[in-house]
Amino acid sequence: MRSSYYQPGSSRAESVERLFNRIAPRYDLINDLQSFGLHRFWKRRLVSLAAARPGERALDLCCGTGDIAFALAQNGAEVVGGDFSQAMLDVAAGRLREYSTAPGQGTVAFQRLDALDLPFGSNQFDLVTIAYGLRNLSDFSRGIEEITRVLRPRGRLFILDFGKPDNAIWRACYVQYLRLGVPVLGRIFAGDREAYSYILESLQAYPGQRGVDQMLRDGGFRECRIHNFFGGVMSINAGRRD
Ligand SMILES: C[S@@+](CC[C@H](N)C(=O)[O-])C[C@H]1O[C@@H](n2cnc3c(N)ncnc32)[C@H](O)[C@@H]1O
Repeated sequence: MRSSYYQPGSSRAESVERLFNRIAPRYDLINDLQSFGLHRFWKRRLVSLAAARPGERALDLCCGTGDIAFALAQNGAEVVGGDFSQAMLDVAAGRLREYSTAPGQGTVAFQRLDALDLPFGSNQFDLVTIAYGLRNLSDFSRGIEEITRVLRPRGRLFILDFGKPDNAIWRACYVQYLRLGVPVLGRIFAGDREAYSYILESLQAYPGQRGVDQMLRDGGFRECRIHNFFGGVMSINAGRRD
């Protein structure tokens, strides 16, 4: 049965925003539990591949509670974290109050925005990251078009998300975990089983790492690469704007 949060078509954005507003206070805790803490490792890999340099302008789209935005700023970038869920941004703002800029570190600002209609002029950012965000958009192509527009020529893009493993047995185990295990954690810790059934539903509609790689190539990105973890359970798509 489909969860009430997965709505194909034009009402998708509204239900995704409702989902994240609802789970925001428990989002970080459940991330740790459902990934056995590994999301921290995958995010560190993203930040390390992104290799932000002091003074670069970075956009962390679908920033949620800000993990990636803070890490990019710690490497010296001037970071905008953008998300449309006010409740997720409220958690990020709480963390920002604790964030102190040490010498060599960059700044972070959070902004409410829609990834499908970015409030920035063209060619503004050296780097765009999006972790567990592209899969949630109601229009993946439109999202990539908007990212391409705001990236400077030769700007870098890194997309971290759930992947689609090639090995059928491994994929079946992983799908069972997303179908049965993760929703139980959602029910116990966020009081919302459906919000966590949504992960598998959204993944089924997502092109996965190979499909995203093709979209980037078709969109004119160069140096496209897929970095797989755990046999493709998680992956990072990387590319550089022409
Ligand atoms: C799974 S969370 C990821 C948060 C964070 N990047 C992380 O890795 O922990 C997905 C985020 O995407 C945001 N989001 C989904 N669709 C969006 C859109 N169209 N515009 C802006 N944010 C969006 C949600 O509000 C949510 O905070």
